[in-house]
Amino acid sequence: MSRILLGVAGGIAAYKACELLRLFSESGDEVTVVPTRNALAFVGETTWAALSGRPVHTEVVESAHEVPHVRLGREADLVVVAPATADLLARAASGRADDLLTNVLLTARCPVLFAPAMHTEMWLHPATQANVATLRAHGCVVLDPAAGRLTGADTGPGRLPDPDDIHQVALSLVGDEATLAAVRRRDLAGRSVVISGGGTHEALDPVRFLGNASSGRQGIALARAAALRGARVTLVAANVSAAMPSSVEVERVVSTGDLGEAVRAHAQHADIIVMAAAPADFTPVTTSAGKIKKDGESGLTLELTQTMDVLKTISHERPREQVIVGFAAETAGSPEELLRLGREKLARKGCDLLVCNDVTGGAVFGGDRNDVVIIDREAVVATATADKNVVAHRILDAACGVLDQ
Ligand code: CTP
Repeated sequence: MSRILLGVAGGIAAYKACELLRLFSESGDEVTVVPTRNALAFVGETTWAALSGRPVHTEVVESAHEVPHVRLGREADLVVVAPATADLLARAASGRADDLLTNVLLTARCPVLFAPAMHTEMWLHPATQANVATLRAHGCVVLDPAAGRLTGADTGPGRLPDPDDIHQVALSLVGDEATLAAVRRRDLAGRSVVISGGGTHEALDPVRFLGNASSGRQGIALARAAALRGARVTLVAANVSAAMPSSVEVERVVSTGDLGEAVRAHAQHADIIVMAAAPADFTPVTTSAGKIKKDGESGLTLELTQTMDVLKTISHERPREQVIVGFAAETAGSPEELLRLGREKLARKGCDLLVCNDVTGGAVFGGDRNDVVIIDREAVVATATADKNVVAHRILDAACGVLDQ
């Protein structure tokens, strides 16, 4: 359980902070809401109090004997400001303390996460960009807004990132110093990262396919983590239904053939490629144009042919110096066997790093956590048993290690 201080600034996206608050409550966290006066014009105090189950604080001078402007910041494990308006970012960057929320931002010693939302012009204005740079230099984590439809008819960067995305980032920043340090360093700024995630579908007929149990959540976590560290990220997503992180370019694919084509094209400009997808190894030799019918007597024999091994192909093509990371989902049964199978696979594929996990019993599929051993050609580089977001950062740490060699 973490103590989250949720600051809400005065923008129309304040209503989406209600959903964020609900997600924190569901993950067992205790949330105290500090809305600005303008935020209360969009969502009232009663709503925040009812959703958080706690008193709502707005004014510096209320309950002065409890010194809330100092206590609230000090007691929090994480401060999240969502939405962070242009005005709030400006006040925070210049260290003003003209309301309770900005007082909290000055007294907080925990990680501070801003999720901006504003019109595109305001976001792109040099003054706002300078304020974001200042806040990042102060160690705050400032998400890039999502692109898309804004209030009114305009579109562009400025939308509040999806509440689920903000929630996932927030969870990865609490209690994991290594992740917080990597995000603060923005050590992938200027880098191009390609991630594949999800499971491919190989069509048998217009309604049936051969598929697998991959949910794509580890791939999404990797894309989110790389974007947080400043990278330009492309996620090649095979049949993923979960919400995508903001500020990540998503290319949707269906089959292993599509996935191979997309990854190979994006690999031309990539510094890091992580193949977290589960591509089908076999595809039907023919796809029936009509729905396959049963005749009531005989079974069905499928003739399958092997698909492209995308990881092996890109590891051998390497159009530029790049770090290539593969995954090895094995039903190993023991850590020693997992390592042995991993070493063999890494040599066979020709990649630089391999993330090995034991999928005996199908435990990791669709879950929040993962349990991995990351190896290179010689040794175990890292192990991680954690939330998929934290595992994603350990994988990127290992990739950055190779990149810096
Ligand atoms: N992979 C790939 N193309 C395929 C199959 C797998 O690029 N056609 C990649 C996966 O994305 C993963 C790695 O190869 O990064 C290992 O996947 P895995 O399914 O464990 O290995 P396979 O090559 O299928 O080997 P096997 O099933 O024989 O263990």
